[in-house]
Amino acid sequence: MRSSIALAFVTALGLSAASGCVSRCCLELQKADKLKGKVYFPDSSAYEDRLDSYWSVSAALSPWCMVQPSTADDASQIIKFLVAGDCPFGIRGGGHGAHTLSNSVEHGVTIDFGNMNATTWDPDTKLASIQPGGHWQSVYDELVPYGVTVAGGRAGTVGTGGFVSGGGNSFYSASHGMACDTVANFEVVLANGSIVNANKDNHPDLWQALKGGSGNLGLITSFDMYPIDYADPTKPVVWGGNLFYDLASGPAVIDALVDFTNNVYKDENSSSIVYWAYLPDILGGTMLNAAIENTLATVKPRAFDGYYAVEGIYDDTTKIDTLSAVANELGSGQPAGFRNIWLAASFKNDARPMNYAVEKFTELNAELEKVAPSQETGLNTLCMFQPITESIVEKGVANGGNVMGLESHINDGNGIMFLLTFAVHGREAEERALPLLTAYMQDLDDYADKLGVNWGWRYLNYAHRSQDVISSFGEDAVEKLQAAAAKYDPDGVFQRLRGSGFKLP
Ligand SMILES: Cc1cc2nc3c(=O)[nH]c(=O)nc-3n(C[C@H](O)[C@H](O)[C@H](O)COP(=O)(O)OP(=O)(O)OC[C@H]3O[C@@H](n4cnc5c(N)ncnc54)[C@H](O)[C@@H]3O)c2cc1C
Ligand SMILES: *[C@@H]1O[C@H](CO)[C@@H](O)[C@H](O)[C@H]1NC(C)=O
Ligand SMILES: *[C@@H]1O[C@H](CO)[C@@H](O)[C@H](O)[C@H]1NC(C)=O
Ligand SMILES: *[C@@H]1O[C@H](CO)[C@@H](O)[C@H](O)[C@H]1NC(C)=O
Repeated sequence: MRSSIALAFVTALGLSAASGCVSRCCLELQKADKLKGKVYFPDSSAYEDRLDSYWSVSAALSPWCMVQPSTADDASQIIKFLVAGDCPFGIRGGGHGAHTLSNSVEHGVTIDFGNMNATTWDPDTKLASIQPGGHWQSVYDELVPYGVTVAGGRAGTVGTGGFVSGGGNSFYSASHGMACDTVANFEVVLANGSIVNANKDNHPDLWQALKGGSGNLGLITSFDMYPIDYADPTKPVVWGGNLFYDLASGPAVIDALVDFTNNVYKDENSSSIVYWAYLPDILGGTMLNAAIENTLATVKPRAFDGYYAVEGIYDDTTKIDTLSAVANELGSGQPAGFRNIWLAASFKNDARPMNYAVEKFTELNAELEKVAPSQETGLNTLCMFQPITESIVEKGVANGGNVMGLESHINDGNGIMFLLTFAVHGREAEERALPLLTAYMQDLDDYADKLGVNWGWRYLNYAHRSQDVISSFGEDAVEKLQAAAAKYDPDGVFQRLRGSGFKLP
């Protein structure tokens, strides 16, 4: 009976018989009382709208159906149905993951948290409650009336759930730790459907494992973050913007970054990112930027003297503005609608691998032009360096610890996390480019290995699915994650049925 309805449904949708389980998993979900109207099938406008709302076209896979919970109870029902039916699934938070299979699946059901996007401020607990399907821009805006903010994305467009559960590097990292380190409590739906709160008193092992463990332990339905006061709560602003340099200044800017990184502890409210952006369509070439920010809204703090001393600055967009505006400006530099590949690496705070990465970046772009000509594909790439400092890591330890595994590296000095991004239109261009990008990263890793400066650690939120991310957190972190998974997901649902994101080794 069930299967004949299923077949009729499949036929009505014009789907092949091979996707017969479309019907089974998705129709079961649709039958659940609480999920009426929350399950979307291909070719419906709700389904298409959700596909259009992905940041990366590479990630916007077409699942058998999508289901959008509105509450933790919904999420609990969903996971119970999926487990009972042995249905593969993916988890989508804000939908900003770059690569194929980062937040959705083709063969299975995508649990899409897009309707759980609220931010609420609790004046009694003084915590900001944030749902996983929101975006930081609106989180910041919601919190402004209370004179507070939280450690969220530096681009306002970025999603909340993936960002926080994968670490979260923000303007506040040096002063407060990674975003995950500022989470007081996670509300999570476990594999068996029970809804638990994980914090320092309740399930502290789960709380810690969720700080960097991404989607490996459960469905996060809400998280409470400690607020960060603005310097002047009545004037909720920060200072920041971009310094634009002549390309010839590259080595001097890298020296300034090395110096900045080693001095972060003196001014933890200042942060910077140095990046080369290859934007042939917009610029006809490459630009070199230092994005600099001070969260106390101090204009040109001394921490940036080194960047200002470098010759060849031809523009300076720094200004005092709302966090939301600064975040908005940064977000506009990485627009939605492309196919994307991001790859991550890290090494000691040493100029050599950075200069090497930049030199090879120029060669890489020339190679990419051959397989994905920018005039046809809109090709653009970034080569980006960010400090990972003792200031960041010690805050994590002080706040109960996370599973990012940075402690062992930082004991030998500060580091740099490296991100290579690639964006194009066209699946074939993306496919042709991937081997060039992975070869570039392999070469950079080999070079850093040779110098003895390679951390080998990969930032989950920047890494590609071909990279071995969770193993790179090191044995201690992996053990904690495995122990938490064995305890809270004894049947291995999030390893076996989850098709999106990074899994435990
Ligand atoms: C323009 C842009 C700017 C960025 N800027 C920054 C930055 O400043 N700092 C930084 O650290 N990163 C940054 N990132 C990377 C960003 O952190 C990741 O893309 C992150 O995954 C985005 O979160 P999301 O909720 O949109 O994730 P999604 O892509 O929706 O999800 C990614 C993964 O997160 C997990 N996940 C999401 N929601 C849940 C949930 N409810 N329960 C369990 N697991 C869940 C899942 O495993 C999922 O597979 C940026 C990305 C972009 C595109
Ligand atoms: C939340 O999502 C709904 C539905 O997509 C949308 O209308 C609303 O503007 C979003 N709210 C926030 C705060 O992002
Ligand atoms: C950062 O700012 C806070 C105020 O928000 C201040 O207490 C702290 O001393 C500053 N830290 C450093 C190292 O400058
Ligand atoms: C669900 O799983 C958790 C963790 O394994 C366990 O503590 C709890 O008792 C389970 N709940 C039910 C209803 O089985």
